[in-house]
Amino acid sequence: MEIIHVSAECYPYAKVGGLADVVGTLPKYQQQAGHVAKVVVPMHRTKFLYDNEWTVEHKGSFNMGSLYFDYTIIKEKNNKLGFDLYCVDIYGLLDREKVYTYDDDTERFTAFQIAVVDWIAQWEHRPGVVHVHDHHTALIPFMMQHCFAYRHLSGVPTVLTIHNGQYQGWMGWDKSNYIPAWDTWQWGLLDWSNTINPLACGVKCADRVTTVSPSYMEELTENANGLEQLFRMERMKCTGILNGIDTQVWDPEKDTYILDNFSISDAEAGKQLNKKKLCDDFQLDMEKPLFVYIGRMVGEKAADLLPQAINDAFSHIGSKMNFLILGSGDPSVEEQLSAMNKGYVGYYNSQIGYNEKLSHQMYAGADFLLMPSRVEPCGLNQMYALRYGTIPIVRRTGGLKDTVIDFGEPNGYGICFNYATVWDITYSIHRAVELYDDKEKMKSIIGQIMKIDNSWETSSEKYINLYQSIRQI
Ligand code: ADP
Ligand code: GLC
Repeated sequence: MEIIHVSAECYPYAKVGGLADVVGTLPKYQQQAGHVAKVVVPMHRTKFLYDNEWTVEHKGSFNMGSLYFDYTIIKEKNNKLGFDLYCVDIYGLLDREKVYTYDDDTERFTAFQIAVVDWIAQWEHRPGVVHVHDHHTALIPFMMQHCFAYRHLSGVPTVLTIHNGQYQGWMGWDKSNYIPAWDTWQWGLLDWSNTINPLACGVKCADRVTTVSPSYMEELTENANGLEQLFRMERMKCTGILNGIDTQVWDPEKDTYILDNFSISDAEAGKQLNKKKLCDDFQLDMEKPLFVYIGRMVGEKAADLLPQAINDAFSHIGSKMNFLILGSGDPSVEEQLSAMNKGYVGYYNSQIGYNEKLSHQMYAGADFLLMPSRVEPCGLNQMYALRYGTIPIVRRTGGLKDTVIDFGEPNGYGICFNYATVWDITYSIHRAVELYDDKEKMKSIIGQIMKIDNSWETSSEKYINLYQSIRQI
């Protein structure tokens, strides 16, 4: 089957978060299973773009409202990612350094979607399925079904995967003319609460909708930033399929970013060496448990609770532990976490920014990973932590609930709590400090978690079955 993934991000070409990891991995597994998987992304000025060779695949043009654009599709020449990667270049709109957060993101991503559909519409054959990811690509099923120029694609199955339902791509009705001439009888498909809502439109128009964990699917019917009713109505075509991880990239035995490679058999020594490097680099104390946080500092991740939780932990439990924080986002959270560097010298450090190498070193050298998320559609960090023998401390929500069992429960191995509150976080840190003192228990949990199989094999097959079920309709 020929599967076309369309996404804003794809690791290692362009990454902001877990979406990139998923879109950089799932197609590789689909390809390995004998399918033809292709990924189409906007052109971003990234290192990967300049370090690799590209060939021009197609040139075309389209109108978007009163604007006219030429576009070029280029293809990575040497199959570096294990699947064909295509970039869409639209001069002046897409060739930029960051993936998101420009004032004209609506124009950029609408134009990107038009270019993708315009290109596919000119193929001599039809793809097996078009699989779009998040709101930046969620207008594509509508365009394939209701834009007059592309209606011959209406029979091509489409799947929308929701990695994050909080962002929906809202655009005013004054921009409805951006979408290439469409059947205005179908305006209701674009609308939600009097605005054009691309994510809602994708949910209505795609043949199947998936979320990246079963629990998140359930949660969306109760809490979906205004789309709860829609998810309840469309329940029959929605499924939660848990993400996997790329076990080739995230492998403590082969990871070239970490100081000392290790496997289950020598995890104790291996993790100690990696911890030592972190402690040396960031003036932390080797003898104490090391807690890390890696991630975007936004409301969904509850990173805003960390400063108070860490302060409270130090004042209630004393300086019995270390913290190392890596991330960026909300400037006030960044500021508070940075300011604490001066207050807790020797057992606290925070690094503001994005650092792929350091993140690997932290998964390898830490004892515990904190994920107090308010919303976590799947979460990959906890799965990377498990593979590197680091015990996740998570709030029971979304994918965290589906992948971590508290060590107090049968077969459990992590630390789980119910509420995104300072109290629940500090209490969990306390439990972790006590667990750390039980060396035998720690050792057995590390052995247990490193064996957990969160690879893509099972989930990638679930996607294939889903595609096939649509083709049989
Ligand atoms: P989300 O996509 O919501 O940010 P995920 O848990 O799915 O959350 O994925 C986050 C991914 O981004 C992981 O690969 C994590 O290691 C990485 N990451 C997040 N912040 C940083 C950072 N500051 N530096 C390096 N990697 C980061
Ligand atoms: C989103 C979600 C995250 C998920 C990732 C990959 O960024 O916030 O929970 O793991 O997408 O699906």
